[in-house]
Amino acid sequence: MEQAIDNFAAELAADTAQLREAGRLRILREIVPASNAAAEWNGKIFRNFSSNDYMGIAGDVELRREFYAQYPDAGTPELAQSSASSRLLTGNTPAYARLEQTLSELYHHRSALVFNSGYHANIGILPALATSRDLILSDKLNHASIIDGLRLGDAEFKRYRHLDFEQLEKMLAEKRAAYRRVFLVTESVFSMDGDAADLAALVELKRKYDAVLVVDEAHSVGVRGPSGTGLAAEQGVADAVDVLIGTFGKAFGSTGAFAIMAPEVREYLINHMRPLIFTTGLPPVVLNWSNFVLKKCTAMEERRAHLRAMGTRLRELFREHGMATCGDSQIVPLLVGGDLETCAMAERFLEHGILVFAIRPPTVPRGTSRLRFSLSAALSDDDIETVGALL
Ligand SMILES: Cc1ncc(COP(=O)(O)O)c(C=O)c1O
Repeated sequence: MEQAIDNFAAELAADTAQLREAGRLRILREIVPASNAAAEWNGKIFRNFSSNDYMGIAGDVELRREFYAQYPDAGTPELAQSSASSRLLTGNTPAYARLEQTLSELYHHRSALVFNSGYHANIGILPALATSRDLILSDKLNHASIIDGLRLGDAEFKRYRHLDFEQLEKMLAEKRAAYRRVFLVTESVFSMDGDAADLAALVELKRKYDAVLVVDEAHSVGVRGPSGTGLAAEQGVADAVDVLIGTFGKAFGSTGAFAIMAPEVREYLINHMRPLIFTTGLPPVVLNWSNFVLKKCTAMEERRAHLRAMGTRLRELFREHGMATCGDSQIVPLLVGGDLETCAMAERFLEHGILVFAIRPPTVPRGTSRLRFSLSAALSDDDIETVGALL
């Protein structure tokens, strides 16, 4: 028995060694986040270009103080660090209802449901809603959590080329009649390319082919649209998105996720969505913080404008230096190509106090390794120029 385990461990180690050689080894770094987009790593202070704290909320110490000051007694149930049960048993604390109420008000009184994370949402929603008589059409660059959801469910799924709605329409025309229901699933702002889907065009397609539209706004809620309600709202089609998913772990500086939908869909998910049913609910302290920052974030127009301007400037700097980039958002990729080359480039930035890492396959397609500059409203225009000076 022990021999078998030893052999197993040796095989795993050989596999890991191969990753190291290819420049694809992933490691866990110990990083201390500090306020205002700073981070400490190995005793050195960096400007953080690798967090998804887009609105600078996670690092906003004043905001944190204001939140805790609302509760003079640390013993209040509102600051409890565990819900100690599934939402379906005793874990559905009143903080859930309050947060879902805020969300519902932000999204024209549609129904809201909160989950433990965007990952939970994506591996749970489609497998609950789509059956073996259904088809799911998914953008090729959709996030791993969406892909895992496709794999976990019973529905057939096909992927269309990234943002290629002509191909998507061809698939719909060919296949729609053979399935009871067809689902279209896309990110709104794509996590690795920073480009955006034309959601109005997707809404047209979903109407024409009687499909259900699911949009993951993980990288656009808080950042885009009126009061930070996301890209679908910016494009004026939020009400036509059947299931609109947002996360709290990125722009909102908290943890958890939510979906906006019709009340019938909400009730169905409560009864069928396994990552909602079979997991411990979020702690009240987290739900209350999410509710607090969600409300604060609606008024952060200046931060949103600053974030947008920095994204535009950084892309301009990359292009001025003859470097490839893409998209049009707070996610600014510097496309390098090779894995080792990308790692070497990351090293150069790290040496100069810029915290940015190489993103390699399988996170992105082979040959498209990149540095993903993930901007935060807490960064300054000078930080962007510092990056430019290192190109
Ligand atoms: C598009 C997208 N959806 C979902 C998730 C997962 O969200 P969470 O971090 O809340 O699990 C991510 C996270 O990286 C993402 O990029």
